[in-house]
Amino acid sequence: MQEIKRTYYNNELSIKNVGEHVYLIGWVAKKRDLGSITFIDLRDTSGIVQLIVDNEKHDFKTVKSEYLIHVSGTVMKKDVPNKNLKTGEIEIALDSLEIINEAETTPMIIDDNTDALEDLRLKYRYLDLRRPCMQEKLKLRAKVVKAVHEYLDSKNFYEIETPILTLSTPEGARDYLVPSRVNKGQFYALPQSPQLFKQLLMVAGFERYYQVARCFRDEDLRADRQPDFTQIDIETSFLNQEQILEMMEELLQKIFKETINYDVKLPLRQMQYDEAVNVYGSDKPDTRFDLKLHDVTDILKTTEFGVFQNSKFIKGIKIDNVAATFTRKYQDNLNLTAKKFNMNNYFFIKFENGTVTSSILKFLNEEVIESLKSIFEASDNTVIMLAASNNKRDVNFGLGALRTQLAKEFDLIDKNVHDLLWVVDWPLFAYDEVTKTVSPEHHPFTRPKDEDLHKLMTHPEEVRAYCYDIVINGYEAGGGSLRIYDGKVQNQIFQLLGFTQEDIQRKFGWFIDAFKYGTPPHAGIAFGLERLTMVLSKTDNIRDVIAFPKNLKAKCPMTNAPQEVSDDQLEELSIKVIRD
Ligand code: AMO
Repeated sequence: MQEIKRTYYNNELSIKNVGEHVYLIGWVAKKRDLGSITFIDLRDTSGIVQLIVDNEKHDFKTVKSEYLIHVSGTVMKKDVPNKNLKTGEIEIALDSLEIINEAETTPMIIDDNTDALEDLRLKYRYLDLRRPCMQEKLKLRAKVVKAVHEYLDSKNFYEIETPILTLSTPEGARDYLVPSRVNKGQFYALPQSPQLFKQLLMVAGFERYYQVARCFRDEDLRADRQPDFTQIDIETSFLNQEQILEMMEELLQKIFKETINYDVKLPLRQMQYDEAVNVYGSDKPDTRFDLKLHDVTDILKTTEFGVFQNSKFIKGIKIDNVAATFTRKYQDNLNLTAKKFNMNNYFFIKFENGTVTSSILKFLNEEVIESLKSIFEASDNTVIMLAASNNKRDVNFGLGALRTQLAKEFDLIDKNVHDLLWVVDWPLFAYDEVTKTVSPEHHPFTRPKDEDLHKLMTHPEEVRAYCYDIVINGYEAGGGSLRIYDGKVQNQIFQLLGFTQEDIQRKFGWFIDAFKYGTPPHAGIAFGLERLTMVLSKTDNIRDVIAFPKNLKAKCPMTNAPQEVSDDQLEELSIKVIRD
């Protein structure tokens, strides 16, 4: 094989190069033989350019799709430009073509528009990733990381790695465990995040740390969750909440500018947790559309309807200009979402052609209907959805889920706008009404607000935290907090979470000990790199922004991981597997 020479990447070529003789390398994306001429679409990492072969002069017939070829030819102006290609104004008249490597017929169409199912795409991921749209997403991800390195470096942050084989970090998910061969019967846990280590780096005096950190969580997978994912993990000493938020906003502004050339206006809006949940029905509200929740408890409690009389919370949302579309079938579709969110008492009121229809109409007198109309500003083509329950959370989050579904289905979201906001003033704990126990809303190292500290041991459910989530287009793209740096308070939090003193000492003694040695006040945050990239590349599938992801069953269809291991390996680890 002769030396491979390349003078340009495909997408570097334009009308300016007309007349030039060029050398290119790439895969055959498409080939069309028209008799006297053949067109070949050549794909390289930058994009696609069209090659044109004069069949009278050359015989390149052996070349097939996905062959890797090395070509040379002259850049020509195309008579009719192809608007779908960046190089669409030109084509290359070939004078040489060398096959570098052949390809078998591929198991999927390698094109932005492929009909391959996702598991097949994941099985042949290296082919799936040849598709220009997939290359774009992973390149965008790399650009995000580059912007992060540049910004944090300019602010004197140090990138420091923390262990992968470690102990459990209580971030709320199950751990992935790794058996130790040397210490039989003992297990490492893969980190759910570098949380504890980054705090210890503050104790160690680094003052500004960051890491593009791999994290591992064994939790139910969703469209925006993977078992192994990456955080842009950050910790700082001596900054207060406003200072760290300001710095993180600048970082986000730079990321948006340098990846998609989008201007984020600062400062970002800060929304109280209570407002997010009560008005938008979500702790990660998408405010690109309205559909706010309204409290109608007082109005509806007065009706004769038992469900309303027995519910502490009755709220609703309305959507305009859709009454005709709200068929029985469509309502059933919404009911599925409602059920998923425990919204068992859930009703429609439809205003259409001057009439009101509803399954609960007989309980609604004129006055109630007028009040509802006025609160929801209902017009003649409006549908109101009401939810009633004794559980406030179910009502809010249930309607919130409907709100998002309706906005998507009725196309109420302006996709050209990015909606960035902080959700602040979170409760420190989530309170379980049934078991009367608390669990951390974020993690147990989050600092309670000074003004609420006196209630910590008596009314923990009322304590708010110095805690902030960054929400982008309805995604939780990151979260962080000021940290506890007082060993006594940290100990109290563990007690509230139900740990005995022995548990605390055994599990976290090594960490709490650090508080005895001049721990600085510190604060941090972690952005989900995949979530950020999803938003920037406008996909709602996290697997699109990961080179080799797992499917929804936490399997990798390409390597078939996880797999059984040999008995010898198990024996070496002193592990017995119970197979059913
Ligand atoms: P948290 O658990 O909120 O905080 O995680 C931070 C961000 O990581 C992303 N994320 C995920 N992305 C994909 N798949 C997952 N399974 C997954 N889980 C989380 C989200 C989330 O906002 N140690 C704290 C941060 C801190 O306080 O500094 C932490 O891990 O975008």
